[in-house]
Amino acid sequence: MFLTFLWSLVIVTAISGEKINTKRFPSDFLFGTATAAYQIEGAWNEDGKGVNIWDTTCHENPSPIANNATADIACDSYHKYKEDIALLKDMGVDVYRFSISWSRILPLGYDNVKNQLGIDYYKNFIRELKRNGIEPLVTIYHWDLPQPLQDIGGWPNELIVERFADYARVCFEEFGDEVKYWLTFNEPKQTCQGGYGGGGKAPLIIAPGIGEYLCTHNVLKSHAKVWHLYDEVFRKTQKGKVGITIDTAWFEPDSKKDEDVAAAERWQQFNFGWYGHAIMLGDYPKEMKSNIAERSLKQGFEKSRLPAFTQQEIEFINNTVDFLGVNFYTSAMVRNKIDTEKKEISWAADAEIYAYQKPEWEGAASSWLKVTPWGLRKLLIWLKNEYGNVPIIITENGYSENGTTLEDDRRINYYQTHLSNLRDAMDDGVNVFGYTAWSFMDNFEWLAGYTERFGLYHVDFSTPNRTRTPKKSVNYYRNVCKTKCIVEKSKCTD
Ligand code: NOJ
Repeated sequence: MFLTFLWSLVIVTAISGEKINTKRFPSDFLFGTATAAYQIEGAWNEDGKGVNIWDTTCHENPSPIANNATADIACDSYHKYKEDIALLKDMGVDVYRFSISWSRILPLGYDNVKNQLGIDYYKNFIRELKRNGIEPLVTIYHWDLPQPLQDIGGWPNELIVERFADYARVCFEEFGDEVKYWLTFNEPKQTCQGGYGGGGKAPLIIAPGIGEYLCTHNVLKSHAKVWHLYDEVFRKTQKGKVGITIDTAWFEPDSKKDEDVAAAERWQQFNFGWYGHAIMLGDYPKEMKSNIAERSLKQGFEKSRLPAFTQQEIEFINNTVDFLGVNFYTSAMVRNKIDTEKKEISWAADAEIYAYQKPEWEGAASSWLKVTPWGLRKLLIWLKNEYGNVPIIITENGYSENGTTLEDDRRINYYQTHLSNLRDAMDDGVNVFGYTAWSFMDNFEWLAGYTERFGLYHVDFSTPNRTRTPKKSVNYYRNVCKTKCIVEKSKCTD
């Protein structure tokens, strides 16, 4: 009794002392957790799976991954999925977001060779989820491109558009009867800017100011092609929805000066608008088109480094979401950068901004992650103003630590304060229908290996059976899922 009382005090004052919105979420609001195939499955070469670009990256010598880690076994979810689904059920989630590994079902990337064991794995997985009353939310592409497709150039090669559509068709044919929510891409900016611009994500190609724009051009075409494919061939019988997950931070102007306000807006267009504008309003944002064209010409290029869509392509890409997935973790302050020379060739330089995070913002194990829950509300309002009333699901939001404690009060505080701001945004009229916390369990955090842990469940990567242990946040989040309330039941308002 005393302990319960103490716990309630902790959550209502939200550790950080922030005011928490105590209003219950709508009864049909979807709460869940999220993961991605490469980060949890392991079984990298089992049952006919082909090699993908992250396998290649993990096996490079010297390794670019922290502590030379690999995801060969990761959380071993390929073998432990029934146990995992039992944990999800115990948490009371409505929905589980996971991704399909392209090279597990099409080992060479092309649809000429299908791997039945891989297909069966996801069929069984989805069936098990549904048996437990959990709705699958499926990401078709979460960064793990089959290596043979990278060998012919990867996302910057336009041939990928057809190949991605072939892969998505197999997904719809094999799993579509059981799946209501599809996401074509997870965080395409990371695929393109990380993978082919700055080199922070596989395949680690450094071609700034060129590669990420070519990649994005094809990702947008691929997304649109797959949305139309679903719309024309599968929607009528499968009755699902197709969206995309785009990530961004909130960008707060560093001063009230017009040029800083414009710079923050411009940086948001370079981040979210790069994808969102094309998909929901048609074409790239005007800020991107003008900045990149001007700088390219000054740099001696014949024409803009930003490829142009034809009018026909603009129309094909516009209006191709049934719902929008948003990944939100952090914020930054932004001010205008006066760059008269315009020499540097990169996506970030093209934006002509200066961004920083305030030292007083609480940090996490990931250096880029500063806790700014207020940014989520501001971003959601920005999205509504920009794109209208598109239905939104927060497909990722979470906090990392280094694994030294199961008493993860900072994570509880993170979830609670972000959900409070999310609830405020709903009061402001933003159309949000769900939230999947990143992450269900500690997992392979890309180049950071296992040094940054985002899990509600702790995973012991040093034991062969990858033991899962609930952190304190599991209790908190179970309560959220079961009551649709982010404060203790007695303090919840209807
Ligand atoms: C975004 C990515 O989608 C996910 O794979 C990653 O682990 C988290 N953010 C945390 O960095």
